[in-house]
Amino acid sequence: MAFKALITDKTDSGYQSHIGERNLEDLPEGEVLVKVAYSSLNYKDALSASGNKGVTRSFPHTPGIDAVGVVEQAANGPFSVGDAVICTGYDLGMNTAGGYGDYIRVPAEWLVPLPRGLQPRDAMVLGTAGLTAALCVEALLDTGLQPDQGEILVTGATGGVGSTAVSILSRLGFQVVAVTGKAEAHDWLRELGASDIIGREALLEGTEKPMLKPRWAGAVDCVGGDTLVGALKSLKYGCSAACCGLAGSPSLANLSVFPFILRGVNLLGVDSVELPCEVKQQMWQLLASDWTPDLKTLEAAEVERADLPQWFERILAGGVRGRVVVKVAG
Ligand SMILES: NC(=O)c1ccc[n+]([C@@H]2O[C@H](COP(=O)([O-])OP(=O)(O)OC[C@H]3O[C@@H](n4cnc5c(N)ncnc54)[C@H](OP(=O)(O)O)[C@@H]3O)[C@@H](O)[C@H]2O)c1
Repeated sequence: MAFKALITDKTDSGYQSHIGERNLEDLPEGEVLVKVAYSSLNYKDALSASGNKGVTRSFPHTPGIDAVGVVEQAANGPFSVGDAVICTGYDLGMNTAGGYGDYIRVPAEWLVPLPRGLQPRDAMVLGTAGLTAALCVEALLDTGLQPDQGEILVTGATGGVGSTAVSILSRLGFQVVAVTGKAEAHDWLRELGASDIIGREALLEGTEKPMLKPRWAGAVDCVGGDTLVGALKSLKYGCSAACCGLAGSPSLANLSVFPFILRGVNLLGVDSVELPCEVKQQMWQLLASDWTPDLKTLEAAEVERADLPQWFERILAGGVRGRVVVKVAG
């Protein structure tokens, strides 16, 4: 059976994406066939569609690391035909045909039931970005962090992960300081719950020094590089930074052991891709209940798959504010 998908091809003039046809037989063997309703746009989708070999090795390929939809075929297992499910991460959209196709076929262990209280479309306003933001907040809370300990820094604050983290932290009663390179987004960040906003450069001041004046009770970092180095060097005694991204740089060249051994700070690694499905399920439950961020404000746009090539360019240039929902079947 033929179905529609966004297909990225390697051409003489680079990687190009277009709407084309695939067949169910083209999908990998798996236990569950899901008809996709919505997907979303993440930085990693744009990397896949632009031929980044660390994400996708062979083309033609259908990107889309997120999908929500309904089970159409299921072998023996926990899911039945008609169940609403979410799939994020693992190999979806990387080297397995992803959520920008009408259908995905995946192992049952990759699927989470759509939690009660969350509309399918809202699940994709959140997507991998929302899940990652929730994991960062969870990592900080696991250290015993409380709102009365002081300000929490969020870097890359207008991006998908950053903006969702700002909203969740604010909802949980934390004072959030957002770091952004977008001067025009300050009002929007305040609407999401940031109590203060600083420019990217401010955080880079003095990062060559071994330590900086302690200020932050915690940090969620989506940027890496000297931004994360600056955050670690200015954490208060015993406090922690959750590190999930590399939008700026993967390097920590300007970091020494001093913040760790003199201030007892912690660097908490966060991965939303390979972690066990049960943990993903717990996070989705929180996102559907006590932690639901301000979805209306977070949503930047709903786009058709045919519009994605221009959005890939925008997100790679750091030019997207909030979350983009991709309509598949709707
Ligand atoms: N660990 C995981 O499981 C996981 C999961 C999801 C995403 N990630 C990673 O987390 C990062 C953020 O993902 P996302 O989906 O939120 O991406 P995104 O929507 O593109 O947001 C990234 C944000 O970082 C800031 N930024 C971009 N380039 C920068 C630069 N050169 N220097 C400093 N800041 C820069 C921008 O925010 P401002 O303009 O506001 O500064 C941008 O909006 C990416 O690196 C992504 O690969 C990791």
